[in-house]
Amino acid sequence: MMLIMLHFPLRSSIVPSLRMAAGRWLSFVRRARLVTLGWFVPCFLLLVPAWPWAAEPSVVIKFSHVVAPDTPKGKAAQRFKEIAEKLSQGRIRVEVYPNSQLYRDRDELEALQLGLVQMLAPSLAKFDQLGLREFEVFDLPFVFPSRQALRRVTEGAVGQELLQHLESKGIKGLAYWDNGFKILSANRALRVPADMKGLRMRIQPSQVLAAQMRTLGALPQELAFSATTSALKTGLVDGTENPPSNFWTQGMCAYQANIVVSYHGYLGYAVIVNKKFWEDLPRDLRQILEHAMHEATQYANEIAQAENDADLQKIRSECKTKVVDLSDADRKLWMDALRPVQVQMANRVGNDLLVRVQREAAR
Ligand code: LMR
Repeated sequence: MMLIMLHFPLRSSIVPSLRMAAGRWLSFVRRARLVTLGWFVPCFLLLVPAWPWAAEPSVVIKFSHVVAPDTPKGKAAQRFKEIAEKLSQGRIRVEVYPNSQLYRDRDELEALQLGLVQMLAPSLAKFDQLGLREFEVFDLPFVFPSRQALRRVTEGAVGQELLQHLESKGIKGLAYWDNGFKILSANRALRVPADMKGLRMRIQPSQVLAAQMRTLGALPQELAFSATTSALKTGLVDGTENPPSNFWTQGMCAYQANIVVSYHGYLGYAVIVNKKFWEDLPRDLRQILEHAMHEATQYANEIAQAENDADLQKIRSECKTKVVDLSDADRKLWMDALRPVQVQMANRVGNDLLVRVQREAAR
């Protein structure tokens, strides 16, 4: 009590009663010769609010995404949460909402801009919805021969410049997280590009992906990710494309008889945050979040390939779906068929950007 009186400016009306209570406490302690207890109790009362377990989080981050928890993105979001909460000793709470629990694709971007959620990791194909066509460069078929080639772009000057374009939309780009290269599925046998003719294929909202499907003679159908499995089930669409991790965790193989492991295009994410929220954070908490993001990004990009390989293996062994691997000759047929898309879409994504990406990817 004495300590409290020394440290806090109290209103005059309560000072006398606190003084009386402190006096009574001290005379009790003296009479009972409980010297240790006499110090311990007030110190304990003062320290309680400083214990981590007693602290209320001062920052709450709602991190919304559309895929399952057991995917590269789902696992990395969870890792980010764990690190941020541990390092901040409870001052930060990260609430992860997977599987479009809070918002579907398009809505989640609006929710971020309105500050209804603070963090997302949409696939790069989804940024056209904000008018940022240049992100569609990542959707071009056969533009990245490997993950290393992709990484040179995302981690180099091009990747950083693209993230800066988000700022005009009230969004800050923090990192790129991998998923992987896509497979194609349908209820018709798929081996060569001609097998795609006439198929209604679900795509993400990207004009480059629409052009890719049209070039193959298929009919692109834009649908939210959360609506895709039921659209395959009801026959609203005939097929789709996604990395194996999304295909497996959404249970798509129950409704798709055939897969071709084409790895024709890439699907990855930009982790983004509401810019104002980010800039208003206390500096120490922002540093903790930057550190947590750095660790989660390394983790995401380390596990993505293995997660997709494991999920493709599960599809092979646990689904009735027939999985076709491409010979070099068949793969060349797909590459030749899709080559015109880069030329058709160069203006849309930006000629200079495309040349820079191609140069980095080919290094
Ligand atoms: C899709 O819509 O197919 C993907 O963007 C889903 C995701 O976030 O991986």
